[in-house]
Amino acid sequence: MVIFAQIFFRMREQDFLPKVYANFPEKGKVIWKAPSNIALVKYWGKRAQQIPANPSISFTLDACATTTQLSYEIRGENTSDFSFDLSFDGKSKEDFKPKIRAFLERVEPYLPHLKRYHFQIETSNSFPHSSGIASSASGMAALALCFLSIERKIQEMEDGFFNRKASFLARLGSGSACRSIAGDLVQWGYHQDIEESSDLYGIQYPFKVNQVFKNYHDTILLVHKGKKQVSSTVGHDLMHQHPFASKRFDQAHENLAQLKSVLATGDLERFIQIVESEALTLHAMMMTSMPYYILMLPDTLEILQKIWRFRKETKIPICFTLDAGANVHVLYPESVEEPAMQFIQDELVVHCENGHYICDQIGLGAKQIFE
Ligand code: DP6
Repeated sequence: MVIFAQIFFRMREQDFLPKVYANFPEKGKVIWKAPSNIALVKYWGKRAQQIPANPSISFTLDACATTTQLSYEIRGENTSDFSFDLSFDGKSKEDFKPKIRAFLERVEPYLPHLKRYHFQIETSNSFPHSSGIASSASGMAALALCFLSIERKIQEMEDGFFNRKASFLARLGSGSACRSIAGDLVQWGYHQDIEESSDLYGIQYPFKVNQVFKNYHDTILLVHKGKKQVSSTVGHDLMHQHPFASKRFDQAHENLAQLKSVLATGDLERFIQIVESEALTLHAMMMTSMPYYILMLPDTLEILQKIWRFRKETKIPICFTLDAGANVHVLYPESVEEPAMQFIQDELVVHCENGHYICDQIGLGAKQIFE
């Protein structure tokens, strides 16, 4: 069998269009577990077809993950609509269906077998339901991997191409999902200094990364577990008329460029400056959108202040980042795990809803659980 496909230097949309297939499997199932990720340089703002307004980079997480089982059964020749059932934690989830349908419509040109099958999608998260942790990244990554695995049964694909296409498909479901396929440090979006970088998919960060970042920890403080008032989709959209948008996009390019030497040398002081500035800039963009809004809560701010005080007093390199919500990701190297956890338990957990937090660290990407 011919192995599809060669990885081109920078792949284009048409490179992900499959060949015409004849031998479709009758039925089967696949299971993938895909992790969440936390951005260091944030993706905030996009154009049509999920093209990011600026490049971003993230740590892949390990414990926070979505596991999805996709069962498929052929239903004759191409029919005119998609056919699927969906359950989350064993319960039917009608309200997730429109998002999945929109995803299927977007990826269909690249997975033209989709309408031939009836699908049963069974999904669950390792992190508590409605913890305020975004599940769209891990959820869409797991789903993209499952759908692409069916194509892989028809047409052999080398791992590099498979990962790139899975990332490409995941992006069409949720932008940040394209950074949840493979690699511990994943970069997405064109950047002039990163030759392989692309707006279409994420890549493993191609430059030297110092050992200090290898087992980096992320303790996620669940300040608010409910649904946030303004979705990321709305937030991205507000960047279109945003007065500071173009400066912000330039800044992301600049921060990514600066991270190159920071990541290589392990300069934690500069790393912390860039990461915390990115987090606060993300929230500053929300506060200066029209309409404006604030997703941080009083407890979020108290945590940030305490982290700054603790770092100043102890010189322990612990810092924060934020996603689009009130929860705080506390980042620190493995070497300071003990004092960092002690500090979190003594001073920060009191700001978490019901004292809940999640201990996570850098992971390597998605895993196939069943072929
Ligand atoms: C703040 O990927 O959730 O987490 O593409 O609309 O699904 P959609 O948005 P999404 O946005 C994530 C934004 C962020 C920053 C980041 O992860 O880079």
